[in-house]
Amino acid sequence: MRLTVIGTGYVGLVTGACLADTGNEVVGVDKNPDKISTLNRGECPIYEPGLTELLQANMKSGRLRFSMDLAEGVRHGDVIFIAVGTPARDDGSSDMTAVRGVADEIADHTDRPKIVVLKSTVPVGTGDEIEERINRRAKHRVCVVNNPEFLKEGTGVEDFFKPDRVVIGAEDPHAASVIRELHEPFVRNQRPIYIMHRKAAEMSKYAANSYLAARISFINQIANICDSLGIDVNEVRLGMGSDRRIGFQFLYPGAGYGGSCFPKDVQSLVHTARRAGVQADLLDSVHQVNERQREILFRKIVSRFGGSLNDHCFAIWGVSFKPKTDDIREAPAVTTINKLLEAGATVRAHDPIALPNLRKLLGDRVTYHESGYEALDGADALVIVTEWNEFRSPTFEEIHRRLRQPVIFDGRNLYSLETMRNLNFEYYSIGRPAVIPARH
Ligand SMILES: NC(=O)c1ccc[n+]([C@@H]2O[C@H](COP(=O)([O-])OP(=O)(O)OC[C@H]3O[C@@H](n4cnc5c(N)ncnc54)[C@H](O)[C@@H]3O)[C@@H](O)[C@H]2O)c1
Repeated sequence: MRLTVIGTGYVGLVTGACLADTGNEVVGVDKNPDKISTLNRGECPIYEPGLTELLQANMKSGRLRFSMDLAEGVRHGDVIFIAVGTPARDDGSSDMTAVRGVADEIADHTDRPKIVVLKSTVPVGTGDEIEERINRRAKHRVCVVNNPEFLKEGTGVEDFFKPDRVVIGAEDPHAASVIRELHEPFVRNQRPIYIMHRKAAEMSKYAANSYLAARISFINQIANICDSLGIDVNEVRLGMGSDRRIGFQFLYPGAGYGGSCFPKDVQSLVHTARRAGVQADLLDSVHQVNERQREILFRKIVSRFGGSLNDHCFAIWGVSFKPKTDDIREAPAVTTINKLLEAGATVRAHDPIALPNLRKLLGDRVTYHESGYEALDGADALVIVTEWNEFRSPTFEEIHRRLRQPVIFDGRNLYSLETMRNLNFEYYSIGRPAVIPARH
């Protein structure tokens, strides 16, 4: 089938490449000229495991190409996926400018009846609004389907090929069956495809993300209580998560959730609820708890080193919002770095993949280090914010040797308290007692 994907970011690129891989003829359109020229050179503009190979193979086969020409893109596809950004506005609502702009272009350039699929995460009622908006000005009838994307950055390709479920929100049975057929190759392992009302599909995405965010805020709040009572939250996690009704996933205490989805989706759902006259205090608290949690490492640093951090230097390990991605949007590390800089400290940053994105954001306000050990040179402490695998078993003697003093703030509870004690580190983690060597 001829498909067009508008927006070649994390979602659009994975969607386009995976659908080309199952035999469709896909055109990816983006308004960002740098992205399109990078893609046309056969390079991937984002870090996503397995994506470069998939893009290259499908471009070589002729089933996948990229363009900036939206009008041509609209004419190409029988099905057009919209995968542009829907960022948060200051009041928490979703900024729908890009989605509406693309909808108008589709209306102006469509040359036959088409199906438009909203892959972007959009507030409840957007499908109705966009269908009405397009059909008001288009010469041919367009059906709008909601097909929320549940992939996780870092495992996006794998998630698209083997989804837990596919949700298709459609009011038109023919459109629903076309989109179902496109997804059949990905659910051969008997995972379900749910066809439901469009608004229910829109809501499913927000409900799923808000629930996962709620689990993170929940365990973070439990961790903070443990912290003040001198309890190890890891032990509590075991006692709690081994209950099969609860489980362990998304119950890792840390420096708060980040990324381009959870923060904005929770706030957007709160906004939707308010507009519907419903109090969403639980969801509001999920967000507030997270806002505070994002500063927890900074607060721990200040209580150890004092409010003014002039003349202090900190090494940061991990700046992406989670491992295996270069995405730093809403990353807790960025919050931590900004707070440290405001307090007068200098920062030496290390990340296996995300340093170029941090450099775009912070320029020469911090220094960038390809080697994690080099980042430690002369620093007063190591601050770990993201749990990249390579941080799990470092050479601790090297950390000891390079830091000005052996102090670690660990936002991901990577090391056992016993190990830290035995290695003579001063060690602060989340929801666990601090390890203070005898000399202090
Ligand atoms: N990133 C994720 O893990 C993820 C997962 C599920 C859902 N989502 C949702 O998918 C949507 C896209 O997210 P993303 O992370 O892929 O965003 P992104 O910022 O990586 O990509 C969006 C792309 O759209 C392009 N774009 C914007 N306006 C355009 C226009 N008018 N014409 C053509 N291209 C345009 C941008 O240049 C950019 O390349 C969002 O609604 C997001 O909430 C994201």
